[in-house]
Amino acid sequence: GFHRHPKELALKTDGPFGQFDRQQLQRGFQVYKEVCAGCHSLNLVSFRDLHQLGYNEAEVKAIANQWAIEVPSVNPETGEAATRKAIPSDKFPSPYANETAARAANNNALPPDLSLMAKARHDGPAYIYSLLTGYQAQPAKLLAEFPATKTPEGLHYNPYFANLNIAMPPPLTADGQVTYADQTPATVDQMAKDVSAFLLWTAEPNLQSRHKSGLAVLAFLIIATVLGYLSYRNIWAEAK
Ligand code: HEM
Repeated sequence: GFHRHPKELALKTDGPFGQFDRQQLQRGFQVYKEVCAGCHSLNLVSFRDLHQLGYNEAEVKAIANQWAIEVPSVNPETGEAATRKAIPSDKFPSPYANETAARAANNNALPPDLSLMAKARHDGPAYIYSLLTGYQAQPAKLLAEFPATKTPEGLHYNPYFANLNIAMPPPLTADGQVTYADQTPATVDQMAKDVSAFLLWTAEPNLQSRHKSGLAVLAFLIIATVLGYLSYRNIWAEAK
């Protein structure tokens, strides 16, 4: 078929000893903040969760301050919803006032909340990485075989997306689109990897402690097994 499985993506969190790479998570957050947040919310992540990535209190406050939160009142002068600056306990809001506004800005598609996207899709981080780097021209062979799949106006061909044509325009288009604080060269590939790692963190913030307790459980089971075997030998030692 023309739909592709995700490309390989190696992350420091892979395997039972995997730990988050905080530098990478900070870079991924920067990509989210400067690119993805233009369309996508993180409704399950609050600004103060960023402490886990190594940002201090003042930095978290300063970051939250760059977002606006709608409050349930209307500006009497303009009729527009009133806003206040976000504080650390707020969640990353959607940039749109409501679904109608979101769809109006996106060719009638709805940019989904990204908090759990890395879990919602099979092979989540690799899928997101592949999707972001997978935009390409539609293969002539596909068009010849299935003319009805021709990418409609306003959609974009991407073989990693289940129905091949996606409403999201390619968000990462140029090397250097963001300027990383840690001097890592911001190639499209690097930015895609970093934001995928970041979205794994938003979906599974407790992954590290899960790995740690998993190892402790395994160690316990091994010890218990050895003890069990030794006492079995001891109890039956006299029996011939
Ligand atoms: C959908 C990620 C930036 C608009 C999606 C999906 C993901 C994603 C994972 C879901 C795909 C699926 O359903 O399997 C990202 C990331 C971004 C980014 C990581 C930043 C690097 C943007 C921007 C816009 C946008 C800037 C708006 C200009 C949309 C829309 C959809 C979508 C409209 C729904 C697509 C459809 O259902 O056809 N995005 N996105 N995204 N995104 Fe983004």
